[in-house]
Amino acid sequence: MSFLEQIDKERIPQHVAVIMDGNGRWAKRLGKDRLEGHAMGAHRAREIVDAANKIGVKYITLYAFSIENWQRPESEVSGLMSLLAKSVASQFADLIKYNMRLMTIGDNSMLPADVRQEIEEACRKSAQNTGITVVIALSYGSRYEMLAAVKKMLHKYESQRFDIDSITDSDFESCLYTSGMPDPELLIRTSGEVRISNFLLWQISYSELYFTDVLWPDFGEEEFYKAIVDYQRRERRFGKTSQQIKA
Ligand code: IPE
Ligand code: IPE
Ligand code: MG
Repeated sequence: MSFLEQIDKERIPQHVAVIMDGNGRWAKRLGKDRLEGHAMGAHRAREIVDAANKIGVKYITLYAFSIENWQRPESEVSGLMSLLAKSVASQFADLIKYNMRLMTIGDNSMLPADVRQEIEEACRKSAQNTGITVVIALSYGSRYEMLAAVKKMLHKYESQRFDIDSITDSDFESCLYTSGMPDPELLIRTSGEVRISNFLLWQISYSELYFTDVLWPDFGEEEFYKAIVDYQRRERRFGKTSQQIKA
């Protein structure tokens, strides 16, 4: 039986986050340039968005470029940036056709102006779409995001002098890039690395983590469904006992 057939349609995660890792190693294995790995990775990203949409996932967040990735060689960074702009431009028609909404999280101000414009326009034009929300984490860092949230709150305090002791989780959440989105129930990381690399630290506090050795350019639709099936086999207890959960 395929993994797709094993999925329980009643328990689809609303939000899946993905650390798309291993493009460079995939290219190296085949004697190709790293950028060819990234290009293949971009194709896979599209395939996985379609797969997520097909089973009814509402949000998919794809870690495409971290704040730390700016430290890579200039040629790789600029190659990645043009690939991003090209991918968004070439897939824009489909985005509209399939009623998908595009959003980004991260510090857009660090992006080259043309890339930023391309992406912001696609986000604006798809903002009213009601299908799956595709969130691209771009120039994203979780500590940076949380620090920005603290600064936002302090600025608000300067003008509004609210009661500091009454600040809640949801007040803080509303200052994050992910404001209004459900937390990911499932986080997938490919390529065998078992770390979070500064991704959604606040938001994944109770996510199920799924690590696979498969490199991102090899991570096809069935691999994605396999991760969903694995997630559905787990018992999420949120600090309670197994007995309480079953009651
Ligand atoms: C993930 O693949 C894509 C980005 C971080 C932009 P990598 O480029 O990190 O691939 P590896 O880890 O070197 O194999
Ligand atoms: C994490 O991958 C960032 C993205 C997938 C965009 P990295 O390859 O940059 O992470 P580290 O450096 O191995 O932790
Ligand atoms: Mg990597």
